Amino acid sequence: MQGSQNIIETIDLVKDYDSMEGKIRALDNLNVKIPSGAVALIGPNGSGKSTLIRTILGLLEPTEGQIIINQEKNHGNLRGNIGYFPEQNILITKVNAVKFISHFGQLSGLSKSRSMQRTHEVLDYVGLGEERYRVVEKYSTGMKQRLLFASALVHDPDLIILDEPTSGLSPEGREEMLGLIKEINKKYNKSILFSTHILKDVESICDYAIVLNKGKIIFQGGIEEIRKIQKKTIILEVDNNKDEVLNELIKQGYIASLSKERICIESDGSMELDKITEIVTKLNSRLISLKNHEPNLQDLFLHLIDRDIDQYNNGGI
Ligand SMILES: Nc1ncnc2c1ncn2[C@@H]1O[C@H](COP(=O)(O)OP(=O)(O)OP(=O)(O)O)[C@@H](O)[C@H]1O
Ligand SMILES: [Mg+2]
Repeated sequence: MQGSQNIIETIDLVKDYDSMEGKIRALDNLNVKIPSGAVALIGPNGSGKSTLIRTILGLLEPTEGQIIINQEKNHGNLRGNIGYFPEQNILITKVNAVKFISHFGQLSGLSKSRSMQRTHEVLDYVGLGEERYRVVEKYSTGMKQRLLFASALVHDPDLIILDEPTSGLSPEGREEMLGLIKEINKKYNKSILFSTHILKDVESICDYAIVLNKGKIIFQGGIEEIRKIQKKTIILEVDNNKDEVLNELIKQGYIASLSKERICIESDGSMELDKITEIVTKLNSRLISLKNHEPNLQDLFLHLIDRDIDQYNNGGI
């Protein structure tokens, strides 16, 4: 499925849930274009990531709009070509991993013997080979995540959709899971769509990202574009003459502001820290700390939301 065309498109997709408080619009006229390759779906809690994934998989009926998979509207059979790693832990089961995965394989249309063969291959691949006859219920969180990944791979689909595959994992578990996902994409040429809250996960795997907020798209495009719009900042703390330092920075052309008693200076990456130190000393202030701030997902959301509001106000959307 790797190539340049979109593997999934949605047209004016709407999903409403009925709840005690009334109707909840979880997806609000989405026009998503998902290319082949490795694509991240990012957004805060409740932004609609899982709803979008479940609607694409046919587990939820859209309220309005269409989903096109591989350029086909009638795509019931194409969904068999998708592997799914669900958000909720559904592994409360007393069977062992071999039984669990081979059952998934058969549900996905493999014959009994082919499913068994694939089961052993994928369990080895995700690193559960030695634990294959242990009861799944007794697995650690990391093992359960790997087992779910194996269940998404057993029928050898071309596209694998993973809903928060790294959530709840230790740093090492996360690295291992990311390594497997990366390998599936790069070495085995599978397309990946995965949702996450962690910007570092996105940067290490994806070529493309879709950012949702309150059921709407606030960004879709190449990861390079995200890198460009992510503003780096320098955080400066001084213990006196704060306002003078801030004014001098602004006078010298820096984009700077005060936040929580610290001075935040926008950086294009080439800014010299020496120059800022010089300004602080010149104004008889004392430097407490000066450091580069690596933008996180929260910064990115805030920036994209601002950008979205600006575009809306300027009639751009
Ligand atoms: N079964 C449901 N019934 C009613 N409302 C729902 C249901 N499932 C989701 N919602 C609501 O739809 C919106 C989108 O939820 P969704 O689970 O798709 O978000 P998400 O981006 O996956 O969030 P998270 O990061 O927490 O997993 C939220 O407002 C949520 O409360
Ligand atoms: Mg979710």
